[in-house]
Amino acid sequence: MIKLSSNMKKFKPFLFEELYRKERAEREKGRNVISMAVGDPDIPTHQEIVDFAIKESKNYINHRYPNTKGNLNLRQAISRWHEKRHGIKFHPDDEISVLIGSKEGIAHLPFVVLEKKDICLIPDPTYPTYKTGVLLCGSEIYNVSLKEENGFLPDLGKIPQKVVNRSKLFFLNYPNNPTGAVANKEFYKELLKWALKNEIILALDCAYCEIYFKERTSSIFELPQANKIAVEFYSASKTYCMAGWRIGWAVGNSKLVRALNQVKENIDSGQFNAIQNSVAYALDNHERIVPSIRNKFKERASFFSSALISCGWKVQEPGGSCFIWAKNPVKCSSSKAAVFILENANVLAAPGIGFGKNGEGYIRFSLTLEDELLIESAKKIRNLDWSKI
Ligand SMILES: Cc1ncc(COP(=O)(O)O)c(C=O)c1O
Repeated sequence: MIKLSSNMKKFKPFLFEELYRKERAEREKGRNVISMAVGDPDIPTHQEIVDFAIKESKNYINHRYPNTKGNLNLRQAISRWHEKRHGIKFHPDDEISVLIGSKEGIAHLPFVVLEKKDICLIPDPTYPTYKTGVLLCGSEIYNVSLKEENGFLPDLGKIPQKVVNRSKLFFLNYPNNPTGAVANKEFYKELLKWALKNEIILALDCAYCEIYFKERTSSIFELPQANKIAVEFYSASKTYCMAGWRIGWAVGNSKLVRALNQVKENIDSGQFNAIQNSVAYALDNHERIVPSIRNKFKERASFFSSALISCGWKVQEPGGSCFIWAKNPVKCSSSKAAVFILENANVLAAPGIGFGKNGEGYIRFSLTLEDELLIESAKKIRNLDWSKI
């Protein structure tokens, strides 16, 4: 008789897997749903990257085990990219770690810093993976509210001092999933000062850093002393539309990066070298590849938020990411609104409550679907009669 560990009681099904399951179930019922539930880019990976990967996968040298922390070619390309993009030089030896998707590194980071008695600060609403490692470490989570009136930035002064004193790690993510909010340099200055004073490690998730619609996003490492206390996570999934290739990276404080590598080498053996080299190619050709992806999401964000606004939704156009975070047009739970939209418009969106208590009352629409489907979805949502909910 198999008895699963008590760890399993800590986990709910992963929100986005549940949404995928829901989509499949609806399709099996014969319903042709338009899925706007998950941030999974529809745009194909650039042909040059694909061609490069084909060539690399034919090279038998790449068929052997990779190096867990990432091969030198990619770590050097990452270093070059950050120098060009942010003016910061990370040392390829111990300030860069290649990940099997940034989700992997995010889930493993808590193991290298948290004790049971520690608290990890996690935003609410949040990307759910920030909780994974914390729960497995048996540490505590304190949810830090992100409120619309504060531009979905945390109000650091509102975190009780008792909590601050026990906090060791803080996950944050801008451009933000799910709200689409962006953080500017002034906020990072305040955050860094506060983190240094309270000795709280900053884990900044930059998965959407290249999908910005107004000002170019900045890195906390553009500020002096950030390297004492921070690590940033990057992802090829959205930047280069390579979600299925499973690759990302972490940069920052060498003690943290080295420890993360040490945990990883006891768990995984790195990503296929052909894929690593293809991301090195993408990074070196970033300016040719990324603007059209960014512009596409910008155009979709503008179109879809205007469409929702025109039929009574309260929406702020996002500053970045590939999501629209919209307030339900009538007062009801986000789950009820999401079911109503699915039943009556055939559109599957993510209920805000799935991202945390503060997500209640919101629906997240992902813009990672073809333009024709986005237009059709907007039309169907416009035709909804909310008096029937
Ligand atoms: C905020 C955020 N961080 C990290 C990830 C994980 O990205 P990946 O593991 O594909 O690099 C995602 C994926 O949706 C995300 O939304």
